[in-house]
Amino acid sequence: MTGPGKNPDDAAEVIHEQRRECLCKLTKFVGAAGVAAAMWPLVAALGPDEQTQADGEPMDIPLGNVAPGETLRRVWRGKLVFIRHRTEQEIKLANALDGVSRIQPQADAQRVKPGHEQWLVVYGYCPHAGCIPNEQTGEKSGWLCPCHGSEFDLSGRVTRGPAEENMAIPDYAFHPDGQTLRIGVKDV
Ligand code: FES
Repeated sequence: MTGPGKNPDDAAEVIHEQRRECLCKLTKFVGAAGVAAAMWPLVAALGPDEQTQADGEPMDIPLGNVAPGETLRRVWRGKLVFIRHRTEQEIKLANALDGVSRIQPQADAQRVKPGHEQWLVVYGYCPHAGCIPNEQTGEKSGWLCPCHGSEFDLSGRVTRGPAEENMAIPDYAFHPDGQTLRIGVKDV
């Protein structure tokens, strides 16, 4: 069953629209009052919304065809969600980086579900001002925010830049078959 979240094919369009909105707002705010004053309204407008999350219908996402190293982008209740199928090597790297980020220290194990460590599920927004980070490959695997350069590892933890929080995690759970992710619930 798939809930009433937007069609997966709409994800690219949502990313495009929200990137454009974010950049327009940033430009306007920065010109008027400086970066610091601009950040809070944007976070409120583009970041995860607890009310929406609580009221939203869950969305089921089949995972069977998602290869290791691939990231799905889905839109749930108007918010972009990244679902990363991490490789064995990426999981090891994420664990090796525990304690490296001093900005919001969190172990990788706190950011994934036990028994499903290969799946990282995060909202697709930079906590600094709500821009959509770009995926990075190679040595710096993770995400890089194009707005002010915050960097996030493959656990979604901020490692550099002005962001002061890790990428937010929506409520989600796995179907007992392990092949379906349900966003918007704490348990299945
Ligand atoms: S929005 Fe400023 S670093 Fe991402």
